[in-house]
Amino acid sequence: MKFPKLESKTILAPMAGINDLAFRLLCKDLGCGMTYSEMISAPALARKNKATIKLIDVVPEEHPFGLQLFGQKTEEIVKAAQYLEEHYKPDVIDFNLGCPARQIIRQGAGSSLLIRKNRVVEIVKACSSSLSTPFTVKIRSAFEGKKIVAIDIAKACEEAGAAAIAVHPRTMSQGYSGKADWSIIKQVKETVNIPVIGNGDVFSPPDALRLMEETGCDYVMIGRAAMKNPLIFRQVNDYLRKKSFKQADDEAKLKMIKTYLFLAKKHEVGFVRTKLHCQLFTTGMKGGAALRHSLGKAKDEDEIRRILGT
Ligand SMILES: Cc1cc2nc3c(=O)[nH]c(=O)nc-3n(C[C@H](O)[C@H](O)[C@H](O)COP(=O)(O)O)c2cc1C
Repeated sequence: MKFPKLESKTILAPMAGINDLAFRLLCKDLGCGMTYSEMISAPALARKNKATIKLIDVVPEEHPFGLQLFGQKTEEIVKAAQYLEEHYKPDVIDFNLGCPARQIIRQGAGSSLLIRKNRVVEIVKACSSSLSTPFTVKIRSAFEGKKIVAIDIAKACEEAGAAAIAVHPRTMSQGYSGKADWSIIKQVKETVNIPVIGNGDVFSPPDALRLMEETGCDYVMIGRAAMKNPLIFRQVNDYLRKKSFKQADDEAKLKMIKTYLFLAKKHEVGFVRTKLHCQLFTTGMKGGAALRHSLGKAKDEDEIRRILGT
């Protein structure tokens, strides 16, 4: 199955603890071409764990969207992917080969699979042949050490049937330190014939253009910058089209926060998560530090609105 053709070159990166439905819909409203869910545990979903299922919060108007799984046992991942396909009809099912979190690595999942190519190939083959949804992978450049495996893994995943590859070119042991090495994205793009999604350190519209020009990648995936400024999707779209974009002023940010609060209420996002997003969104606003401090003490949505004057 082929990766869908998106209307924008931008994709919201999967982010655990961040990508609730209201946030994803906000990003989409602001021009993001496709959203990804937070990573979902394949072993838990294969067991039809109720708490895990409750966390999957998609609505039809989100299309196109991807749901991301993590795990390491082929049978569980196939079962979980089939469950996602049947119940949520995602446009893409993605497999996490990049998570550096200790509890995920300890399970033999996430980026630790980068040193188990045979298992990766087995998983991608099994999923892509048993699903009618495009199956994609998201990788880092390597687990640890200097030997980069991204190019080899990307080629193997393509041959096994992957529909696209997202590349965050840092090793697991790097975490978020240093710079993302975009030359690895370029090498992956030169090696495979499926769409390549470039990711890592896109913090501004010019960064997005530079990533596309330097690597030839098909799409740009944005994570941390979107957490603080979801308007970046509209800004990147504008910049790619006409080489200019409007800076996000306080008025635009407040309007965006209002939209988020509306969506969070409508889709029953918890208060702690709602507050976290509002705090993040005030980054760069006049008096932002003081606003974040006050928001930290807010006890309910009315208080958030009063502090922000929305
Ligand atoms: C809070 C947070 C949660 C993340 N959760 C996931 C995840 O669930 N799955 C995944 O593949 N990557 C996850 N990532 C990594 C991002 O998808 C992305 O690869 C990384 O942040 C680099 O992109 P950026 O420089 O645009 O932030 C997470 C990153 C952050 C900051």
